[in-house]
Amino acid sequence: MAKKVVTLAHYYTTPEIQQMADKVGDSLELSLFARDAEADIIVFAGVRFMAETAKILNPQATVILPDRGSTCSLVEQTDVAQLKAWRESHPDHVHVSYINSSAEHKALSDWIVTSRNVDDIIASLYADGKKVIFSPDRNMGAYLNFQYGYDMPLWSAVCEVHDKFNEDALNAGFAEAGDKMHYLIAHPESPLPVLKRADYVGSTSGMLNWVKQYDREADGVIFVATEDGILYNMKQARPDLDIRQAPIYAGCQCNSCPYMKLNTIEAVKRAQQGEGIRIDYLSEAQMDAARLPIERMLEFSQRYYA
Ligand code: 13P
Ligand code: SF4
Repeated sequence: MAKKVVTLAHYYTTPEIQQMADKVGDSLELSLFARDAEADIIVFAGVRFMAETAKILNPQATVILPDRGSTCSLVEQTDVAQLKAWRESHPDHVHVSYINSSAEHKALSDWIVTSRNVDDIIASLYADGKKVIFSPDRNMGAYLNFQYGYDMPLWSAVCEVHDKFNEDALNAGFAEAGDKMHYLIAHPESPLPVLKRADYVGSTSGMLNWVKQYDREADGVIFVATEDGILYNMKQARPDLDIRQAPIYAGCQCNSCPYMKLNTIEAVKRAQQGEGIRIDYLSEAQMDAARLPIERMLEFSQRYYA
């Protein structure tokens, strides 16, 4: 019997890849979809930590990442031995880790969060009187500390894509919009000075929903501080709006994730035939340890977003 193949794609992949997918979404949606997929093979057109999460949540399925190089700078900038020592130096804290982390990293965490639920999960921990350390994204942690007055010790890694957004380029972009009203929506992996200027901060899905529901000036200009792939979804949803990527330096409106863009049509087609990087290198013990904090998050999310 033919094997059932399900293809998942993140919003940061190109329009052609998104059109090849059964489901397009943010990290949380794709994790839930992978967990519930009744598939023999899950092709994950995203990056490695997403494919690893899919395998951890659906260990019966064969999970294939189209390209070996699809990593994430937040994973690459985190040395797990150093992280372990840092975690052990805060024995009275709850360790909350962003899903953009390796399976080993997740296994050293009490909670996993995505950009979709990070605010609510950390708020609930503080409401319970807990002390929290946050890894690996320094920008996201700095934003949470600023926004809610927390004092979380932070691990120091950044997304090389979002970290390029900056106030000077933003001011230049706003100036180009002239007299029109301009808005900024931003992913929380962006630097704090940019996030402080944002009208909305949230996940890829959150930003997409903000655009879908936009009901302000018809000629307003919406600047988007995140990876350029999702501009396709936004323009498709609202072709009537002037949606621009936030510039990263004067005149430049381009900011792509090199790892997401390794999901080429050829690589995804090969993966759908069963070729590519099989996520088969995690031991049962590693998967069990990483699954615990992920499931905690999924349970919380379902309770709150169902
Ligand atoms: P989302 O969970 O918001 O889709 O973000 C994933 C990601 O890698 C952002 O850089
Ligand atoms: Fe990682 Fe940044 Fe690429 Fe997202 S955009 S996958 S955080 S490198």
